[in-house]
Amino acid sequence: MQNIPVSDLPTSVQFDFTTGIFAPALDLSERRISDLAEMYYDQAAVQKMLQGGNPVIYEIRYHPFVTSNSDMSLGVTRLFPGKVGDEYHMTKGHFHERLDQPEIYFCIHGEGYLLLETREGDFRAERWQPGTITHIPPQWAHRVVNTGSDVLFFVASYHIAAGHDYAAVAQRGFAQVVVERDGKPTFVPNPRRQ
Ligand code: PA5
Ligand code: NI
Repeated sequence: MQNIPVSDLPTSVQFDFTTGIFAPALDLSERRISDLAEMYYDQAAVQKMLQGGNPVIYEIRYHPFVTSNSDMSLGVTRLFPGKVGDEYHMTKGHFHERLDQPEIYFCIHGEGYLLLETREGDFRAERWQPGTITHIPPQWAHRVVNTGSDVLFFVASYHIAAGHDYAAVAQRGFAQVVVERDGKPTFVPNPRRQ
């Protein structure tokens, strides 16, 4: 994002609880299956979706709040329902570049899980429903999975200076993947790690 406005005054945006869209947003990113291709274990299913029109899996609206001596970002992600093969739609997931940077995620709508994992392999899954707020400590990679039949949207708040490091998650994924088995979300060991 370029030309982030600097203001030392209080700033508000307006959030719509029915859509998960707030305004004004200063930036909008779309992540399509082509952006996430390496994240899913079923590569044949990925290829099929690429040929079928490369759908949007999630979108993120951002509003950075920058003052003369601070930075803070608001990001609202709308993660659409669906699966790639039997693996539920999910965000890419990332570590923060800076080792001292946490984040707050607030689930507003939908259901699923927040997956978290350290570089040492400590893995957690937080069950998410509307109203769940999770503090993500520094040095925990984080990814959201939508296991419901409706859009899942959540608010993220973090320092812009935290930075996003996608490389480790892109290479290895998380310890477990969330797949549909017998019509239910089920955790299984990540086939890419075996
Ligand atoms: O800063 C965050 O953690 C979020 O705003 C995420 O960037 C957002 O949910 C999209 O996920 P990812 O960055 O892993 O694609
Ligand atoms: Ni983050």
